Amino acid sequence: MILVTGCAGFIGSNFVHTWLAEHDEPVVNLDQLTYAGNLDNLSSLAKDPRHIFVQGDIGDRALVDKLLAQHKPRAVLNFAAESHVDRSIHGPGDFIQTNVVGTFNLLESVRAYWSALPAAEQAAFRFLHVSTDEVYGTLAPQDPPFAETNPFEPNSPYAASKASSDHLVRAWHHTYGLPVLTTNCSNNYGPFHFPEKLIPLVILNALAGKPLPIYGDGQQVRDWLFVTDHCHAIARVLEAGRVGETYNVGGWNEKANIDVVKTICARLDQLRSRSDGKPYAEQITFVKDRPGHDRRYAIDARKIERELGWKPKETFESGIEKTVQWYLDHPEWVQGVTSGEYRKWIGKQYG
Ligand code: NAD
Ligand code: DAU
Repeated sequence: MILVTGCAGFIGSNFVHTWLAEHDEPVVNLDQLTYAGNLDNLSSLAKDPRHIFVQGDIGDRALVDKLLAQHKPRAVLNFAAESHVDRSIHGPGDFIQTNVVGTFNLLESVRAYWSALPAAEQAAFRFLHVSTDEVYGTLAPQDPPFAETNPFEPNSPYAASKASSDHLVRAWHHTYGLPVLTTNCSNNYGPFHFPEKLIPLVILNALAGKPLPIYGDGQQVRDWLFVTDHCHAIARVLEAGRVGETYNVGGWNEKANIDVVKTICARLDQLRSRSDGKPYAEQITFVKDRPGHDRRYAIDARKIERELGWKPKETFESGIEKTVQWYLDHPEWVQGVTSGEYRKWIGKQYG
């Protein structure tokens, strides 16, 4: 049995699907169901006894203590977080609460549980913390990609809150001996991605005939990884990662935002052309830049490849093809996530 947190969200729900497709080990999924948590992401598992869903906060000590005592997991994987940089600029409080205070409380519950385990189970136990490349800050065009040894230089409230949580996880290992692992991954994309983020936002806006908002000059670079590749990396680190280590995970796929958006437009032109026959790229609109916008992220993923044999399977071309097709094939899911709260956010962010 493993306990996972935040797995009604984008990456976590993909992780649960991938895990249960490849393992028989059951999963307890603790998720608060914030605006980003969505049980529709898990609906195909509704009758699967290997998936136990619990609604709740990672910061709720009494609840987490109870779940640990009841299910006796051999590992806890922490995906739960506030994850959207733009929201962290509008309102950083929730990010401090979940990503910093929540992670602290979760670590304390796990430490109490782990300390009381018999020696063999203690040695086998793992706490895996899912984190981001944004903790490293930003790169100039000629800089080498982020290695695990890069200093932390977070620039947004989101990145600072994740960096704080990474530091807590590290300290709980060094001080208390908790057997932790941390992954720092680049930008994910794929099914179930909430459409506040660039790739799904552009797909859905394009289909709806709305502007495709590009911040600033659109030359910011991100290193894109198909979400299933990230899920396999996490499973591999859990299986064989060295305790106390961090592993960078990335796609070797650096793309400027404008090129990502043009690629999506071109795929849509082929798969579902506009009724007026014009290219979707005509909807591209340059808008005000994100404050403090990091210019470039890139991940050096050689450590996880060398030590654990993990490499991404999807190319950007194969992954984006699957992603665009998935959004075209799931209009009901799209309808479910683009109601009330979502429209409020879009109004606030884009006017
Ligand atoms: P998401 O926003 O889609 O999902 C987050 C989930 O966490 C939601 O289901 C939400 O309900 C839940 N949650 C939030 N606060 C909670 C709390 N206090 N207690 C319990 N559950 C809570 O995020 P995501 O994109 O799936 O990211 C998952 C993790 O991966 C995050 O830790 C994020 O920092 C990290 N990450 C994301 C990316 C990316 O590109 N999306 C890349 C690298 C790392
Ligand atoms: O690098 C990993 C991180 O990737 C994760 O830790 C975060 O949780 C995840 O949200 C993502 O952060 P980004 O800020 O890079 O992702 P986002 O999709 O919001 O933006 C990608 C790029 O596109 C970024 O340079 C900002 C730009 N952008 C975004 C939006 C929403 C636009 O130009 N227009 C937009 O409307």
